Amino acid sequence: MKMWSGRFREPLDPAFEDWQRSLRFDWRLLPCEVAASQAHARALKKLGVLSASECTALCRTLDEILAQFSSEANSTDPLAALDHPAAHHATAEDVHHFVELELKQRLGDTALKLHTGRSRNEQIATDLRLYVRDAIAALIHDLRAWQRALLTQAEHADDAVMPAYTHLQRAEPVLVAHWLLAYFEMLTRDISRLRDCAARADRCPLGSGAVAGATLPLDRAAMAADLGFVSPTANSMDATSDRDFLLEYLQTLGQIALHASRFAEEITLYATAEFGFLELPERFATGSSAMPQKKNPDLTELTRARAGRILAAAHNAEFVLKGLPLAYNKDLQDLQEPLFMATREAHLLLRQLAPFTQALQLRTDRMRAACEKGFLNAMAAATYLVHKGIPFRTAHEIVGHAVRQGLEAGCELGDLPLATLQALSPAFDQDFFAAVTLQATLDCHDVAGGTARHRVAQALAAARSQVDEQSNAEVSHARA
Ligand code: ARG
Repeated sequence: MKMWSGRFREPLDPAFEDWQRSLRFDWRLLPCEVAASQAHARALKKLGVLSASECTALCRTLDEILAQFSSEANSTDPLAALDHPAAHHATAEDVHHFVELELKQRLGDTALKLHTGRSRNEQIATDLRLYVRDAIAALIHDLRAWQRALLTQAEHADDAVMPAYTHLQRAEPVLVAHWLLAYFEMLTRDISRLRDCAARADRCPLGSGAVAGATLPLDRAAMAADLGFVSPTANSMDATSDRDFLLEYLQTLGQIALHASRFAEEITLYATAEFGFLELPERFATGSSAMPQKKNPDLTELTRARAGRILAAAHNAEFVLKGLPLAYNKDLQDLQEPLFMATREAHLLLRQLAPFTQALQLRTDRMRAACEKGFLNAMAAATYLVHKGIPFRTAHEIVGHAVRQGLEAGCELGDLPLATLQALSPAFDQDFFAAVTLQATLDCHDVAGGTARHRVAQALAAARSQVDEQSNAEVSHARA
C-alpha cells in the first residue's frame, strides 16, 4: 500500500515508480530511521496518542525489524557497501515506507498510528543528521589510525634527513620526521573540521512536521535528548530543508581526500627510480603483466583518483542545493547517493593509507645523499654572513656568487677554499665550514615549527601526547 494513494485515481507509471524509489540506497539509514521512530513513539505516548503498551510494541517491533534486516545485510555499519536485501522490497518507496510496511505486517493497525504528527520531511532530515554523526565518528577513528602510522614512521626516522622542495626543486634539508609531521598536522585540522561539522549538525529536526511544525504539542526537547542531540532545531522550514550539515561534511571529506591525494602524489614520486627515496611495500604494490621488472604504486595512484570521486560528491551536492526554494524538495533525496558514496570511499581510502604508511620503507641513505649535493646549505651560508653583520640582501648576493663558483668548480659551498670565499667577502672565516654542514643547516632553523633537531623532537613529543590523549579518551569512552 502507498503512503499517499487517497487523492489519486491513476496508478503510477511503473518505470517512473521504479525510477523515483530511494530504498535501493537509503536502506543505509535504517538504524537512524528506527531510532528516530522510537523517539517519536515515546513522544506520542507522552501525549496519550499511543498507550504505553502500543508504544512498547512499536519500539520492540522496530528493534526486531532492524535486527532482522541488519543481520540479513550482515552489518549495521553505516559505511557498509553491501546491497541490502531490503532494497529489493517490492513496493516500498523509501526507507520510511519500508519500515511502515514492515510494522503494519507485524503489528496491524497500531503501526498506522506511528505517523501521527510527523512527516517524512522531518524524518529524513533527522536520519541524515544521525547518519552524518556516526560517519564522522568512524572517520575520526580512521584519521587517527593514519596519524598514528605517520607518527610511528616519524619517530622511527630518528635524525634522517631529506631535501624539502619548493617548485619541486631541492630547497633546504629537513628532518624526515618534519616532513611526516606536516601530514600529521593536516589530519589534526581535518579531525577538527569534522568535529565542527558534527557540532553544527547537533540539532534535532523531529517535531518540524512537513514544513510548518508538528500539529501536535510534541515534547521536542525530549525527542532531541532521546536521540542524543544537544537541542531541537529552531525553525521548521529550515530544519526540513537545511542540508548545510551534509554539504559541510562532504566538503570536509573533500579536504581529507585532497590531503590524502597530495600524500599519494609525493609517495608516487619518491618511489620512482629518479628519486629512490622509498621502497613500496610489496603487500601494497602490483606488478606489470608485460614488464617483469615492474613494481607499481597502484595504491597511491588509486588514492589520487578516488580523491576525485570524493571531491565530486561535494560538488554534486552543491549543484543539487543551488537554487532550491524553501522548504523540502524531492531534489534533496538525490544528496544521499553522493553522501553514501563519499563516506564509503573516504573510509576505504583511509583504511588503506594507515597500514600502507606504516609499511613504507624509507631509503634514508638516498634521501641523505640528495641533501649533500645542490647547495641546499646556501640559505645557511647567507645566515652565517648575517651573523657577521652583513645585511641579508647583500649576503644573498655574495652566497649567490659563491654558488656560481661552486657550480664552475664542480663542488659544494663547503668545499670552496677560504681564500676564494674571502675574495667574495672578507666576512668569511674558518668557522664558515662548521656553519654549513648538514646538521648546522638543519639546526639554524631554530624556531617553533622549524626543522632544527630539538624543535622536531618537541613536535614529535607533542604529537605523541596528542595521540596518547586520544587513545586514552577512546578507551574511557568505550568503558563509559
Ligand atoms: N525519501 C525522501 C527523501 O529522501 C523522504 C522524504 C519524502 N518527502 C516527501 N514529501 N516526498 O527526500
